[in-house]
Amino acid sequence: MKAIAQDVYGSADVLRLREVDRPPIGADQVLVQVHAAGVDPGVWVCMTGRPYGARVAFGLTRPRVAVRGRALAGVVTAVGSGVTRFQPGDEVYGTTPSGSYAEYAAAPRERLAPKPARLSFEQAAAVPISGVTALEAVRDGGRVQPGQNVMVVGAAGGIGSYAVQIAKAFGARVTGVCSTGKAELVRSLGAEEVIDYTREEVDRDGPRHDVIIDTAGCRPLSLLRRALTPRGTLVLAGGGHDAGGLLGGYTRQMRAPFVSMFTRQHLRGLASRERAQELEELGRLIDAGAVTPVIDRTYHLGEAPDAIRYLAEGHPAGKIVITLND
Ligand SMILES: NC(=O)c1ccc[n+]([C@@H]2O[C@H](COP(=O)([O-])OP(=O)(O)OC[C@H]3O[C@@H](n4cnc5c(N)ncnc54)[C@H](OP(=O)(O)O)[C@@H]3O)[C@@H](O)[C@H]2O)c1
Repeated sequence: MKAIAQDVYGSADVLRLREVDRPPIGADQVLVQVHAAGVDPGVWVCMTGRPYGARVAFGLTRPRVAVRGRALAGVVTAVGSGVTRFQPGDEVYGTTPSGSYAEYAAAPRERLAPKPARLSFEQAAAVPISGVTALEAVRDGGRVQPGQNVMVVGAAGGIGSYAVQIAKAFGARVTGVCSTGKAELVRSLGAEEVIDYTREEVDRDGPRHDVIIDTAGCRPLSLLRRALTPRGTLVLAGGGHDAGGLLGGYTRQMRAPFVSMFTRQHLRGLASRERAQELEELGRLIDAGAVTPVIDRTYHLGEAPDAIRYLAEGHPAGKIVITLND
């Protein structure tokens, strides 16, 4: 089958469109014919092996899995002997450890859910990583309640565009932080207020936000805390563009619990779990019309390196998707 693969860590130049073996499936796995695959910053981390701490998970000297991509939407073509939830022909979405920038992917059954009926494959492939992270940030990290003031920093991005919509669906009043050209998009997603970070800082309105979800990952904790109520919750989802050293921009996540010990504010890092139950909960929000993926650009499989280069510039308006089988 055709796939986007790499043998060494590096820039998008190391990626090649080439023939690889179709992945085998275990008893608890499902083989999916991939129709579309999502692009997210985690793909960049797997590709470059940076920050270096990521290599503990992905391979110390070279990527353990050659095929890139994790999020997918497609059609089940085979199931393992232990799988009863799915059968060939089912339309699904979710994540795969075998790589989704490929014609076929093997996914554990617990990482897949039925594709929301309202979405195309392209839209569905944009959900599994960014949408799930946003749901967990709002529901678990922020424990958002109706009537609360919620700020989303990076509101036009992959996670942020979902976080704004999900916080609205939870009954919050949302302030979105984005660059000048994205203000209309962020308002259209449901934000009542927009802060253009190129002109004003997140603490413009003082300590009035019950929950802040930070996906941009570039502000000091002290600045974010100035926009938070005295007992508010800061959820750190992003690591920003600092990929240096062992942990890159994720040192804030490590520090957050310690700072939390000395303040009434709650500071939490977020490590998302990609599970069927979150995909099913998102699917209900999507089919109810409360959440709709925002697609910035789509690329064909062979153009995956360009898709990742565009993402790495750091300013997508919603999600980037790779299409197959069209
Ligand atoms: N915790 C987890 O489990 C988890 C899971 C998935 C991803 N992540 C991480 O979360 C981060 C965000 O992911 P993503 O998919 O949302 O990335 P993305 O799609 O690239 O979006 C990043 C957003 O950041 C905004 N931004 C850039 N500079 C900014 C600044 N100075 N102030 C405010 N906003 C700024 C950009 O908005 P403008 O275009 O308006 O500048 C862009 O929309 C990444 O670091 C990723 O690795 C964490």
